[in-house]
Amino acid sequence: MASVEIQLLGRFEVMVEGRTVPASAWRHRRAAGLVKLLALASGHRVHREQMIEALWPHLPPVGGERNLHKAIHLARRGIGDPSAITLSSQEVGFGGDVAVDVERFEREAELALGSPDQGGCASAASLYTGELLPEDRYEEWTQPARERLRLLCLGLLRCAERWGDVLEVEPLDEEAHRALMRAYANAGNRAAALRQFRRLKDLLGKELGLRPDPESVALYEEIVRGPAAVAPVESTAPMVGRKRELASALATLGRLDARRGGGLLVSGDAGIGKTRLCDALLARASAAGRTTLRGATRVEEGVLPYAPIVEALDRLLLERSDLAAALSDGAQAEIARLTAASPAPVAEADPGTVRRRLFSAVAQLMSAAARERGAVVLLEDLHAADDATVQLAHYLVRTSRFQPLLVVLSYRAAGVSPALAQVRASLLAEGTAREIALGPLPREAAASVVERIHGAAVPPEVIEAIWRKADGNPFFIQELASAIEADGTFVVPERLYDILQARVLGLDPGVRALVERAAVTGEEFSADEFAAVGGVDEAAAFNALDRLLGAGFIVERGGGYRFAHTPAP
Ligand SMILES: Nc1ncnc2c1ncn2[C@@H]1O[C@H](COP(=O)(O)OP(=O)(O)OP(=O)(O)O)[C@@H](O)[C@H]1O
Ligand SMILES: [Mg+2]
Repeated sequence: MASVEIQLLGRFEVMVEGRTVPASAWRHRRAAGLVKLLALASGHRVHREQMIEALWPHLPPVGGERNLHKAIHLARRGIGDPSAITLSSQEVGFGGDVAVDVERFEREAELALGSPDQGGCASAASLYTGELLPEDRYEEWTQPARERLRLLCLGLLRCAERWGDVLEVEPLDEEAHRALMRAYANAGNRAAALRQFRRLKDLLGKELGLRPDPESVALYEEIVRGPAAVAPVESTAPMVGRKRELASALATLGRLDARRGGGLLVSGDAGIGKTRLCDALLARASAAGRTTLRGATRVEEGVLPYAPIVEALDRLLLERSDLAAALSDGAQAEIARLTAASPAPVAEADPGTVRRRLFSAVAQLMSAAARERGAVVLLEDLHAADDATVQLAHYLVRTSRFQPLLVVLSYRAAGVSPALAQVRASLLAEGTAREIALGPLPREAAASVVERIHGAAVPPEVIEAIWRKADGNPFFIQELASAIEADGTFVVPERLYDILQARVLGLDPGVRALVERAAVTGEEFSADEFAAVGGVDEAAAFNALDRLLGAGFIVERGGGYRFAHTPAP
């Protein structure tokens, strides 16, 4: 028999020896029907009664037989080969090998779905060149195969993530609508994402009188709410030994679902891990879809009024300018003045009123962010902040109490200003905030920090020495660990602790240099000795000593001074 290829997807076509049989050859519908049925049948054979039943369901058997013979004759003529169709006492069949596009498609689809990868699925899907035999849509014998092939194609398109094409095949596929909504939203095209949802809603409503799935509605609401602002999180090294503290911080985060916020105070020495813990909290919060904001007091930049709050708001204004735009004109003007977007002159009102307006505008903006998806605002290092910032922080904690807004304040326990001490006491007394006071890391946690820094196993006695020397403080543990020699030996540098502490206390380089020199003279020193080793005059020496006393770094002892903190040897 001649080589025959049959196309059933998208349209019916027979090619013999590479040439298309003209459509006129199939004018006799039943001749075409017979070829189609054989092409679809497994093994390309059909029982003659089945063939008759499918093609002439209403004829009595004798009439059916007669029509069958006629259709076979016409089909053979169409193909141009008398041996193309065979008829036995039992079955009708093709006289030789026939290639059918449906079979090729099914073979490739099975392979692609067996080990799904997007490329394989996409190339198999391209073999589905359209609905099976569209001109026979109402013939009963085409229907099961048509549906099976359509579903197979859908499976491939889903696996290939070709969501637009999925909707061509199945306009009511909610998963595809959602995927497109997400894709539009991720590309920053919220309007298109919302339009996609409306299309789904209209289609479902019109065709089935149904509403979209709760999952689609939730996604719609999520997109309507606008994207979360996400504060940067810098810590990348793993956090160890803080299970309990993290659990307690996360518990406050969990309360946001019940629209309960409030304050979380995180305190402890310099380098104890406040930022690390807050980073972990922010990371969890943004993973849960919350908006996260952060700002820190930066001693190096000089103490600017409201600096940490301005820093936190800057990102929100940049990423979600729509939130500020929805505030009252007055509140917008306050925010603009605060962030210096528009340094409008202060109104003639008294300072108390000016301050109240400002506090209220900041709180309104944060509430607007929190209302959408819950928010966490971190204000770091408030021990070094100006009083106005501390008071605004207090106001924010107070107003966040019954909103999904968590305000996290961190500070060094030793350096608390009277204003901060007052705020802390009042928040704790009212129960508006909880405090997590970070203490030393346990020894096992210290061991893992040391080994991560050293990059190899470290003898237990060295770990023990470092842990003790550092008082369990992770910053010092890290610095000491970097002094371990390649062969694992370790000699604690003389007074390293004080030198490091001067660094973390944010002392300026000039004063730090003096400290480093004073440190080598020993535990205690006089003002004269300090000036002498530092090579500075008396006035400069007293100036530096005042700074060190103020920072709590040294204390007066007898006629001289000593380092305030000396860890256990
Ligand atoms: N639990 C921990 N596990 C591992 N590393 C930690 C841990 N806590 C802190 N560190 C590391 O120790 C260093 C100091 O921590 P961090 O900066 O969080 O301290 P801090 O309390 O914020 O100090 P400061 O008062 O100077 O701001 C950082 O490098 C941090 O990654
Ligand atoms: Mg910090």
